[in-house]
Amino acid sequence: MGKLPKFNDPMLLVGTETSDDAAVYQVSPDLALIQTVDFFTPVVDDPYTFGQIAAANALSDVYAMGGEPRLALNIAAFPNCLSPEILGDILAGGADKVKEAGAVLAGGHTIQDEEPKYGLSVTGFVHPNHLWKNHGAEKGDLLILTKPLGIGVLNTAVKAGLASVHETEEAVRVMSYLNKYALEAVRMLEIHACTDVTGFGLAGHVLEMAKASHKTLTIHAGRLPVIEGALEYASMGLVPEGAYRNREYAQVKTVPELAGTPLEDIVYDPQTSGGLIFALPPGDAERALKNLSALDVPCAVIGEVQEEEEYNVLLDEK
Ligand code: CO
Ligand code: CO
Repeated sequence: MGKLPKFNDPMLLVGTETSDDAAVYQVSPDLALIQTVDFFTPVVDDPYTFGQIAAANALSDVYAMGGEPRLALNIAAFPNCLSPEILGDILAGGADKVKEAGAVLAGGHTIQDEEPKYGLSVTGFVHPNHLWKNHGAEKGDLLILTKPLGIGVLNTAVKAGLASVHETEEAVRVMSYLNKYALEAVRMLEIHACTDVTGFGLAGHVLEMAKASHKTLTIHAGRLPVIEGALEYASMGLVPEGAYRNREYAQVKTVPELAGTPLEDIVYDPQTSGGLIFALPPGDAERALKNLSALDVPCAVIGEVQEEEEYNVLLDEK
């Protein structure tokens, strides 16, 4: 990335500097385009479900900027040796999520490759004044998370053949759930910063928010919502490899009580299509929780924002 030329365009509201979820380009005083692309290899066996999850994940980066997805294009890779029906099912799952998002799917591109891959390029709309960035968190803000954690651990247990049918279904439900509903619940409130929780885990994405905001963010491990079964599997050592990379990357200051616990593993667990994290003032947080609960969006206050210290993320057991 460091070798790429710099693009200076005053209309580019969000570029690459702050590791935000998507690029944002202003086209008029009251309209900005959000542009994002995301795709990955299958995380579940069922092709239709994989399509749903990959699409929900790609759409999420538009929601994380406070925008509405408008236009989506498929991006796919598929091997010749598999039945084209499987690709059809993947695309159908993605199309259904785009429809649920209220956006239009207008084509795409598939190449031949050994391992299937699928995702979307999504264009969204946002009013430039209502754009959410991953920075701007203020001292005293609370942090709200809108999906339970532990999806990576649970998927590892599924691959090992250990997860129950119920746990597997629950993980699929969480991964394919659109962050649209979380956005709708809070869009009228004062949101200082927002991002979605994906491959870098809760700690990694909180770190990005903290660094870009020049603040220290405290996470209360005792308040983290965790998907059923994940703590048990983490205690059995079923922690995905990415979690170890995330741990090194995030450099979290952790209270000794949590060191080496399954709950600590969950903080670094890479998520597939995870929830949104909002930083917002306490009064708005209270309204957000009420609105989110009214729409049945799972949510919890998981921490708060303070002045920047020598570390950017603090993990305590509260
Ligand atoms: Co993102
Ligand atoms: Co992304």
